[in-house]
Parts: sequence; C-alpha cells; structure tokens
Amino acid sequence: MSLNQKKKIIAPSILSADFTRLAEEITDVDKAGSDWLHVDVMDGHFVPNLTIGPPIIGWIRKITKLPLDVHLMIDEPARSVEQYRKAGADYITVHFEACSDIQKTLKQIRLSGARAGISLKPKTDIKRLEPYLGLVDLVLIMTVEPGFGGQEFMPEMLKKVEFLRPRFAGLISVDGGINLKTGTLASKSGADIFVAGSAIFKQANRKEFISQLRQSVA
Ligand code: DX5
Ligand code: ZN
Repeated sequence: MSLNQKKKIIAPSILSADFTRLAEEITDVDKAGSDWLHVDVMDGHFVPNLTIGPPIIGWIRKITKLPLDVHLMIDEPARSVEQYRKAGADYITVHFEACSDIQKTLKQIRLSGARAGISLKPKTDIKRLEPYLGLVDLVLIMTVEPGFGGQEFMPEMLKKVEFLRPRFAGLISVDGGINLKTGTLASKSGADIFVAGSAIFKQANRKEFISQLRQSVA
C-alpha cells in the first residue's frame, strides 16, 4: 500500500439479509470481518420500495459496534436527519435529487455530529455534485438504479468514479452490483468503499467471501 492510499472498506448492505433473523445476520457479517454496515432507507416515494427507519436503526446500533453507513433514499431527508443521527448513524448519505436545499441538508448532517455523504442516481451528471464536495466526507456513486438489491452493475458508472477521484480527497463509495469482478474494476477506478448486498448475503460462508472481496479490491 502506497503512503497516500486509503484503506479499502467493505460494507455489507443489510437489504439482502434475512430480516426474520436480522440480528444473527448482522452479527455474522460483523464477525466475518466487515468494516462498516450499510443500511438502506427507502420511503416508497423517492424509490419504489420501502425498508426501515430510525427505530430499527436504533436496535441495530445496540448489537454492533461497526460504523453505520446510512443511505437515505427518501425525499427531503432534512426533515429526519436528526432522528437518524440519534438512532446511531455514523455516516448519513442523502441523494442530490431528493433535496430542495442540498447545501443546507449537508450542513445539517454535519451539525448533527454525523459525517455527511452525497449520492446520485445513474442518470445524474457527476459534475452537478462538484459545488458540494467541500461539504461532504463521502460521495456514494450508485452503480445500479436505487431501490432494489440484486441488480446488475452498470460499468458506465466507473467514469464517474474516475472523474471524481482527482477532485475529491474524501471517501468514494460504490453501491449496486458489487462482486469480486466489479469490485476490482471500481477499485482500479479509485473507489474506497464497496457496498455489497446480495453478493455477501447469498454466501453460506461470509467470512471467506469477505476476505476474497478484500483481496479483489486491494
Ligand atoms: C440499492 C441499495 C444497495 C443495495 C445493493 O438501492 O442502495 O445498497 O442493497 O445491493 P446489491 O449489492 O445486491 O446490488
Ligand atoms: Zn445503498
């Protein structure tokens, strides 16, 4: 690892976990060597799917010490930033497309004490995020249409990672369709955080897979 190279972060997305056994699933990926836990919040409006909100994040906070990387796919997240922070979110990422005042929302996240992230849908031009890079710790590049796990990685999105890398010193995350092969491609393009849902949770041996994923992005 060269001096200026950051540690690569593996973040399982619990969207693909078995929710009837959520605590076991989280403990399993925690013990398997994950760095962060990625939590997808969907409101059935910004994206056509519904997941969980602050109360369940509060319960998750009690069973793991892993940093909670909360990805808000909800309209006007400014209304609930404080609730997510209180529930235990370490990173709060909002969508550029979902905020009427993105600057204010990002400042609000940092004021809450959380680290701030900004995300964009595949069709949104990465250049539109440039004015806000100074206000965020993380940029999450969606590599599928947000809403569902198990979709195919969009290789064109790597151009966004490549555009951003020389312009942004913070963390670049890729989310959607990440597996051993696409993880390697995204890492070469400059990504730091690898969010993987179905690829991890479908494995019987998560520990072995996470170590393979770690090697594939090294
Ligand atoms: C999709 C979510 C992702 C999702 C990724 O909107 O943001 O975090 O869980 O799932 P996979 O890895 O299965 O594409
Ligand atoms: Zn996500």
